Amino acid sequence: MTTTEDQSVSDAATAGSHATDIARSGAATFRTGGGDVDQARVATVVGAALEGIRSAIREHKVTYDEFDAFKRWLISVSDTGEWPLFLDVYLEFEVEKVAAETQDGSVGTILGPFWLDGQAQLDSPATLPMRDDEPGTPMILAGQVTDTDGTPLAGAKVDIWHTDEEGWYSGFAAKPPAGNLRGVVTTDDQGRYEIHTRKPAPYTIPLDGPTGQMTLAAGWSPWRPAHIHLLVTAPGHRTLTTQLFFTGDPYLGNDVASADKPELTLDPQPTGHGDEIRSDRDFVLEAE
Ligand code: DHB
Ligand code: FE
Repeated sequence: MTTTEDQSVSDAATAGSHATDIARSGAATFRTGGGDVDQARVATVVGAALEGIRSAIREHKVTYDEFDAFKRWLISVSDTGEWPLFLDVYLEFEVEKVAAETQDGSVGTILGPFWLDGQAQLDSPATLPMRDDEPGTPMILAGQVTDTDGTPLAGAKVDIWHTDEEGWYSGFAAKPPAGNLRGVVTTDDQGRYEIHTRKPAPYTIPLDGPTGQMTLAAGWSPWRPAHIHLLVTAPGHRTLTTQLFFTGDPYLGNDVASADKPELTLDPQPTGHGDEIRSDRDFVLEAE
């Protein structure tokens, strides 16, 4: 598990600035947006957001000292590149719930700040790139990708990424090598996938940066339950962005990112091969 000590000073800054670069580049092109700015929409949404803050000031009699501390905090979120982390922990889950209102198929949840483009392309059954001595419980995640009418989706892509057994993401923390425990697995002619990996660990958001400092200052838990991120895509189908959690995880129901959902909990069982465990999970994609 990730400990407070492990989250070195470089971590919030490196993880944060890398996540900022990715967000700025718009690399996550599976989600498109933008277009012309609608003045009425800006007035409604930005107006409501500002009014929420103004009402907190009025209701709780915020002082000039607190207002100045807020300014300094906002500036440090920018300086450390932590906007993607902060926004994905404290706001993305509400955006995801709105998106889910119009999405059929499997239950989704937040993307988070740690997806990376350009990872290993693998055929099923696949073993994710990992170190020769990769620690952790060997785990198989397998299942089938189908359309909402049950048609198997051969050639669908299961993009998977998760932490190592110590709670580190490759590409953001210094320890794991590039591409570790990340890959894009293509389903077979039955739409099936089988991924061999290691069980991930619970994770604390970086504690040395402003997002973590604010979380601790409020006395909130900085932990995320252990989770596996997935992006499941197939031509002509709406992308499923989801995560899978583990039954018995002490942080379930108290996820700092509010992203865990009961439907997303795995209960892996021993395969009988050493300490290996396995979970089966099908994904249903909605046609576009
Ligand atoms: C953060 C980390 C995650 O692993 C995740 O899924 C969402 C957010 C974060 O540190 O901000
Ligand atoms: Fe994550």
